[in-house]
Amino acid sequence: MPNPDQTDPPQPRRPAPHVAIANHKGGVGKTGTAQGIITAAAEAGHRVLAVDMDAQGNLTRRLRALVPEAPEDRAAASLASVLQNPALGEIARILVPCGYSDQTYRDRITIAPAHLDQELLSLTAGTAASEKRLLRAMQGVVDDFDLIVIDCPPNLLSHQIDMAWSAADVLILPCEPGYDSVEAARRIHERVDRDRHTLNPDLAVAGIVVNRYRPNLKIHQQREQDILNIRGTEHVCPERIHELVALKNQEELAQPLRADRTDGKKAADQFQSVYAWMNQQIKTVMEKTG
Ligand SMILES: Nc1ncnc2c1ncn2[C@@H]1O[C@H](COP(=O)(O)OP(=O)(O)OP(=O)(O)O)[C@@H](O)[C@H]1O
Ligand SMILES: [Mg+2]
Repeated sequence: MPNPDQTDPPQPRRPAPHVAIANHKGGVGKTGTAQGIITAAAEAGHRVLAVDMDAQGNLTRRLRALVPEAPEDRAAASLASVLQNPALGEIARILVPCGYSDQTYRDRITIAPAHLDQELLSLTAGTAASEKRLLRAMQGVVDDFDLIVIDCPPNLLSHQIDMAWSAADVLILPCEPGYDSVEAARRIHERVDRDRHTLNPDLAVAGIVVNRYRPNLKIHQQREQDILNIRGTEHVCPERIHELVALKNQEELAQPLRADRTDGKKAADQFQSVYAWMNQQIKTVMEKTG
């Protein structure tokens, strides 16, 4: 009979990192990066919760979330309904599996789906601690996952962003090598520096992922240098995501990158590298913040 006093006490489970994918410039690859990281994590055997904070619902669709068939039932089964004033852990009632045919993804990816009515959530802002509603909705539920990925809408000062960033440990910034995208990345760093003490004191930018990179273009090399100058080389993922057919196709085909017969393997492998880098960055950030 084992002596209960001598058995090891249960180890507290390290909470899963909460990663928000953000850039207020539209179309820079936030959802593509979220999808790439989520599928890479699933391929590595990890259980991922994908939280679609963008009313456009692009991540929900691209992961083929198994939302209710009847369109009139979808708002009530989405974050639009949960985030109005959630009970603790209420997100659990809307979680659905990924609809990819490959069991690897279906078993390991769970989605909190978005709905267009999420646009209306700004009307519910303003009361004390309303920015904590996503955090509140996820409480306890996140214990079942190894990674939480939050896809953000393309804005900077909004109730949706405040909820996403209040729930996140770190931000990952996809950034195109273009002027507007680089400026947007700079402004995100400024907002985190300025507002984190009120929004979320632990929030940090884990780093930038350069997306849609064309190495032979001189202008891309210049903008790449601008990106490296924002917070230094260490802050930028060494893997540049190239402009790839599979990454363009994902908007239309809504399938795992690896299933794309053009350059899907290359794209999926690139996101494996991004995922490994991201985990390292998170570790470094967590060590700094204790
Ligand atoms: N590296 C890439 N190569 C080719 N096409 C890409 C690449 N990255 C993104 N795209 C395409 O660019 C478009 C915008 O990408 P995505 O939807 O991921 O951006 P986003 O930042 O999430 O947009 P939004 O701001 O609207 O949420 C999509 O059609 C996507 O397929
Ligand atoms: Mg998007």
